[in-house]
Amino acid sequence: MNKDKFLIKGLGGKKSLCGSITVGGAKNSALKLMAASVLFKDKVELRNVPEIEDIKRMSDLLIDMGIFVERRKENIYLFKSPSDCKTSLSSYISKHIRASIVLTGPVLARFGKVSFPHPGGCVIGKRPIDLFVIGFQKMGASVKIKNDKYIIETQKGKLIGASIFLKNQSVTATETFMMAGVLARGETVIKNASVEPEIENLANFLVVGGAKIKGIGTATLTIKGGDLLLSKGKFHTVMPDRIEAGSFLILGALTARELEVKKCNPKHLESLIELLNYCGVKMAIGKNSIRVFGGSPKRHLKPIDIKTHEYPGFPTDLQAPMTVFLTQASGESMVFETIFEGRLNYFESLVKMGADIKMMDPHRIIVRGPSCLRGKILDSPDLRAGLAFVIASIISKGDSTICNVYNIDRGYENIEKRLRGIGVDIVRVIQ
Ligand code: EPU
Repeated sequence: MNKDKFLIKGLGGKKSLCGSITVGGAKNSALKLMAASVLFKDKVELRNVPEIEDIKRMSDLLIDMGIFVERRKENIYLFKSPSDCKTSLSSYISKHIRASIVLTGPVLARFGKVSFPHPGGCVIGKRPIDLFVIGFQKMGASVKIKNDKYIIETQKGKLIGASIFLKNQSVTATETFMMAGVLARGETVIKNASVEPEIENLANFLVVGGAKIKGIGTATLTIKGGDLLLSKGKFHTVMPDRIEAGSFLILGALTARELEVKKCNPKHLESLIELLNYCGVKMAIGKNSIRVFGGSPKRHLKPIDIKTHEYPGFPTDLQAPMTVFLTQASGESMVFETIFEGRLNYFESLVKMGADIKMMDPHRIIVRGPSCLRGKILDSPDLRAGLAFVIASIISKGDSTICNVYNIDRGYENIEKRLRGIGVDIVRVIQ
């Protein structure tokens, strides 16, 4: 893990950023597509894979299992699963990446067993895996816990299709059972499934390979189990990262004369666009791009209450950047984080920078603006709050240092280079 830092010179209220910034492939899509390669008999080629730390960790995890991984060139990767591979996921790597949990579905479905530790990831509160345990048991598998590892085994080497109702919508659980269902015997029905666009992207990838999935894009998915999938030399392109795109829109709304956010899918950003519109931000929406206009320095932004919600509601992953935005709105806004506990703790750093934010309870904060933020030394707690700190540093007066940049590198490819391209004064200090 690198200990690099970012040094950022704040704009102090100026709206001087300009130009265009390109959105990369979605982390939370690419990681699941990589896991899905286990369901294929032949080689899988993924394009537009972001060059980020989480992709390196997932590649290391696959390689450790004996799966062939090749980085053909920038953003293009090949994966080939052997007919037999290690079914015990490396504890060291799994503990550092939440998405490792989605590997359990395809590995169990193909090889009949899997063992893994409680997965890690961002420090955003409790991340239980009860839905996974219950779902696998419904599919006929046994679950044991030994030496801090979950050991899951099918009966006679095959999962059995089942009806799985997710007591709460879960992105990774939906993806895991959808992939497990592809090689299970009979039909698997996932009810109260998540409908995030990354799931639709994964489902379409599986269908092209021969999977039989009905209800794609809805909260009830029906998967008819069958044979190993075949890519037949076709490649799949990772969808654009809607969280990255949304963060750039927020940055543009606060600091740019005009900023074009390129290679994004505006349809995936409806909730954010609606909220920014309400607050008074002007945007021009294209097919694959959005232009955002910062407006005059005297422009008043309207405050708004936000509540995170499963897709198509306001994404929890944009909650921290949106809070930074609300520090610049004139009046009181409430931010209500409904998905994760402990995903608001970053607010104390914004307070140190001069923001007026009070915590009501672990799920709600009140933001009063507009505040003049001042540069500070900040520690990036997780990747989304990390990027929010980058935005806060850019709008503030004076210099900021962001430590723990590794957390930002986990999810954003070469972020400083792209930000420099639109006029941000940011340098990486390599430690
Ligand atoms: N939950 C359970 N039991 C489970 C699993 C989840 O109670 O077995 C609960 C969680 O505690 C939470 C809710 O269900 O309250 C929803 O969590 P979900 O399972 O949907 O989250 P996730 O699948 O672990 C993914 C993304 C997150 C993103 C959330 C919500 C990946 C690898 N991670 O997490 O992304 O915030 O969905 O959209 O896809 C990030 O990229 O920074 C990130 C945290």
